Amino acid sequence: MSELKKENIFIKIKNMPVDSIPKTLLVAVALCLLCSMIVSFAAVNLKSVQDINKIRDKQKNVLQVAGIYYKGIDIEKSFASFQPMVVDMEKGVYSNKFDPKVFDDKKAASDPTLSVLLKDDPASIGRRSNFTTIYLLKNKDGSLDKIILPIYGYGLWSTLYGFIALEENCNDIFGLQFYQHAETPGLGAEVDNPKWKAQWKGKKLNNQNGELMIQVAKTSGLKKEYHIDAIAGATLTSNGVDNLVKFWMGKAGFKKFLENLKNGEV
Ligand SMILES: Cc1cc2nc3c(=O)[nH]c(=O)nc-3n(C[C@H](O)[C@H](O)[C@H](O)COP(=O)(O)O)c2cc1C
Repeated sequence: MSELKKENIFIKIKNMPVDSIPKTLLVAVALCLLCSMIVSFAAVNLKSVQDINKIRDKQKNVLQVAGIYYKGIDIEKSFASFQPMVVDMEKGVYSNKFDPKVFDDKKAASDPTLSVLLKDDPASIGRRSNFTTIYLLKNKDGSLDKIILPIYGYGLWSTLYGFIALEENCNDIFGLQFYQHAETPGLGAEVDNPKWKAQWKGKKLNNQNGELMIQVAKTSGLKKEYHIDAIAGATLTSNGVDNLVKFWMGKAGFKKFLENLKNGEV
């Protein structure tokens, strides 16, 4: 298009009445284009920041469930004191097939070559990865302090992702924490209530015969050391938490690994 023609078009547009339909449409289209460009630019440029924030949030939750988080703590530095390890879920031992610092558990869980389809699926997760990243917190003398295990499963409206922290005896619970879910605020989202979470500390997973006993339930009269009170008005989310904790602490989850770790056979 020649420069003269371009100039003519601009003059024509400029001279159109402000409330004419073509000029209104032109301004609307130009505005849409400008806005979509700004949004795309922001989305592309902020992606890396969002990814880093997601990682930091997960790390913060590991610190929280291990009881070492406080406001103002250097999350990255403190998280470095945890030793990530990849666990072979079938064998219940550590695997050196993958680098635990970069292994993507979520991706592995949807990869048919790295996961199994669950026939018995109380946590409603469909597939379980054959390899899972866990975090070990060690004492200054190198002995084991806490084991942080990832757990997830379906509540009422969403999949709840979190961690359970166990004491070095692999049976006593130190804490439980979810870092992602979409349960209803005031109902299912009470899983984040510090008072409800505090119940988990000191509870036991298994009895002396190694049978899995931990239970989230409304029912009273259950053995105190294994019983977590369900959230009032949110029995369905509580049932979800009960199912997912039993799944991950059970035979298809970390049971074998925890037994091996306790016996020094990992
Ligand atoms: C809008 C709406 C949102 C709800 N969200 C949840 C929820 O996130 N988790 C949950 O367990 N129950 C939720 N409920 C309540 C359940 O439908 C069900 O009544 C409840 O889990 C039963 O618990 P209860 O036996 O302790 O009363 C919701 C109900 C409504 C109407």
